[in-house]
Amino acid sequence: MIDAKLLVEKAYEAQKFSYTPYSNFNVGAALLGTNGKIYLGCNIENAAFTPTNCAERTAFFKAVSEGQKDFLAIAIVGNKADAEETDYCAPCGVCRQVIAEFCDPKTFKIYLAKNKDEFKEYTLEELLPLGFTGKDLD
Ligand code: THU
Repeated sequence: MIDAKLLVEKAYEAQKFSYTPYSNFNVGAALLGTNGKIYLGCNIENAAFTPTNCAERTAFFKAVSEGQKDFLAIAIVGNKADAEETDYCAPCGVCRQVIAEFCDPKTFKIYLAKNKDEFKEYTLEELLPLGFTGKDLD
């Protein structure tokens, strides 16, 4: 059983470390591995813009670089630093593709939260229909 609320809280913890001097848009992600570990990620921007890394990919690359390649769910939160109201923050296309590399489209859960109590649940398949994966290269 996935504790979605805990995962959302962890995403907010991760968001605190966002490095966003250019956009001031802070994103946090908490990725649950099948090993029970939660990998946190934040977005990390760069003056040259393109080296910027999204929160979701930070979490995935941390996990994979530590030997974990199987995952159950991710929670994502994002908002402008000075936002009075917060909204749901969906993963960008590049992050959806990275998620598709490692996760089952039908079972992997993506939780988007706009605060600690309100979140929506999606499968990867809902957010990335007809995805391109390694199977297409067989
Ligand atoms: N960002 C993420 O971290 N994740 C997403 O899926 C959407 C965008 C970041 C990248 C950049 O630092 C800022 O949000 C504005 O695009």
